[in-house]
Amino acid sequence: MCGIIGYVGSRSCKELILTGLERLEYRGYDSAGIALLEGGGSHLELVRAIGNLAVLREAVGENSSPATTGLGHTRWATHGGVTVANAHPQVDAEGRVAVVMNGIIENYMSLRSELAGQGVAFRSETDTEVLPHLIAQEYRGDLAEAVRRVTERIQGHYAFVAMHCDEPGRLVGARKECPLMVGVGDGERFLASAIPAFLRHTRDVQLLESGEVVSIDASSTTIWNGHGPEADRPVTRVLMDEDSAEKGGHETFMLKEIHEQPTALWDTLGDRLGADGSVDLEALGLDDASLARVERIHIVACGTSFHAGLVGRYLIEDWARVPVHCEVASEYRYRTCLAGPGDLIIGITQSGETADTLAAMRVARERGAHVVALTNIMGSQATRDSDGVIFTRAGLEIGVAATKTHTAQVMALALLALKLGRLKWALTSVGALELAEDLRRLPDLVQAYLHSAEPARVYEVAGRYASCPFFLYLGRHVGVPVCFEGALKLKEISYIPTEAYPAGEMKHGPIALLEPGSPVVVVATDGHVFDKVVSNIQEVKARGAAVIAVATEGNEEIGHHADDVLWCPRTPSILTPVTAIVPLQLFAYAIARANGLNVDQPRNLAKTVTVE
Ligand code: F6R
Repeated sequence: MCGIIGYVGSRSCKELILTGLERLEYRGYDSAGIALLEGGGSHLELVRAIGNLAVLREAVGENSSPATTGLGHTRWATHGGVTVANAHPQVDAEGRVAVVMNGIIENYMSLRSELAGQGVAFRSETDTEVLPHLIAQEYRGDLAEAVRRVTERIQGHYAFVAMHCDEPGRLVGARKECPLMVGVGDGERFLASAIPAFLRHTRDVQLLESGEVVSIDASSTTIWNGHGPEADRPVTRVLMDEDSAEKGGHETFMLKEIHEQPTALWDTLGDRLGADGSVDLEALGLDDASLARVERIHIVACGTSFHAGLVGRYLIEDWARVPVHCEVASEYRYRTCLAGPGDLIIGITQSGETADTLAAMRVARERGAHVVALTNIMGSQATRDSDGVIFTRAGLEIGVAATKTHTAQVMALALLALKLGRLKWALTSVGALELAEDLRRLPDLVQAYLHSAEPARVYEVAGRYASCPFFLYLGRHVGVPVCFEGALKLKEISYIPTEAYPAGEMKHGPIALLEPGSPVVVVATDGHVFDKVVSNIQEVKARGAAVIAVATEGNEEIGHHADDVLWCPRTPSILTPVTAIVPLQLFAYAIARANGLNVDQPRNLAKTVTVE
């Protein structure tokens, strides 16, 4: 949801900002802009363009710029359509103040009428535009002071960065819930929405808390949080790998990330699984005795993370015999929350920034529940709004469609289920050891699959269905979340409508959708519901539909029922969500590519959804 970057230092910053924006493009990509403080502050050079960063690059041109202070923005529209006027940076009437923002100013309408009443002429439909005007109004020679006063007048959740022609060499930012962090370089500093924006230049980061205002120049950071200025915010060195932000020979980030799943699974397992089957989840914030007393678990998440949560429910209930309630965060946050002390809430969010998930976690935390964030991003808001953390170690995910973070989330939930299963005495030590072995084998199985001839066959099958206008996905038990996730992947990157249903529900409605030739993807992996799924396949076939089954390699029966089979590696049935989703990721990918679509930047989507 919009990416922002600001630079202050001694280097010419035009290219630094453009490449930083390229690293943030996954956050939004309908328009982009850059503002450079030229001539030692004599004027602002502003370039904005509709489309992705390649378009902005072209608009900016090749000319070098001596500017050493600047701002950049990549937009995912909230207020106002996708136009040049609505792109950021937004500037004040005199063109002396420039602002880039991520988030929403909720009271912008009343501020806008107030400013309009004072004669301010607005040039965009954005909520952001009130900021440069307000800053100009409050400015008395100290940008940080002006921004602090403005934050007292605005409501909402936001992160913004401002610069003023009268203070070249300074940037001032503010954040409320939306992310903003300082990158500390050698004689230079950055303010950005996310670490990848400046990772090429520094790994040293100063994190900001919600509600703080920050001022940076080339060599110092000053932070205000209601207790006066603070100049010694600790610097954290991040371990993120810069290669994550490169395609590494793959045609897209999504394909690269599908292929990185074995590593994401290995790394998420890491040293957490002992030889005796014991599990060490280092930062859970609960000792074993307290964890053993947990009676109920609530999982809250959105989108693909929610689907991982659904898998987690099967794992935890089966291995630990603890009841699990799993709900989309945007609904959970507005229901009467009955969670309380003794309950464990797991907020799953790869980005650690999803507004609804954070809100749902907050609601439960206020009621005294123990809240754990399951996230891929160190230092993200979710890690700060929780009592404990389980990190997936999937590396940076850039493709908008989540792949490797999803399977890593399932692995992390399996570790938690195993740990809880032992603590609750629901698993014997022998049983736990066997499951631990199964988990250890998973990354190798996915690796072997990705290096086999199967992916090419998935492409071939997908190619034959690429022009179908609709796909139905069916499955049972753990196959249900696999269907949900497979169908989401297809619809979000290929724009083909999909429905995903528990196969047993098919007769209660979705069967009416089927016509001769309709493609139905059925997750028919081995397990105790296999025969039931086969019956559903028969019902589908009786309506003339074409069945594409995802089945366990070595299954000799499925070929008699399905028109096409996508094989997945053999693993205990409850772990098939990790192996069966891989062919479905590739299936969705192949269909989208066959239709010539940009899978890394599907229309209307953003990688991190920081608005409700
Ligand atoms: C789909 C996808 C989204 C995210 C959702 C939650 O491929 O990526 O559905 O899963 O926006 O994002 P996080 O996990 O960052 O909270």
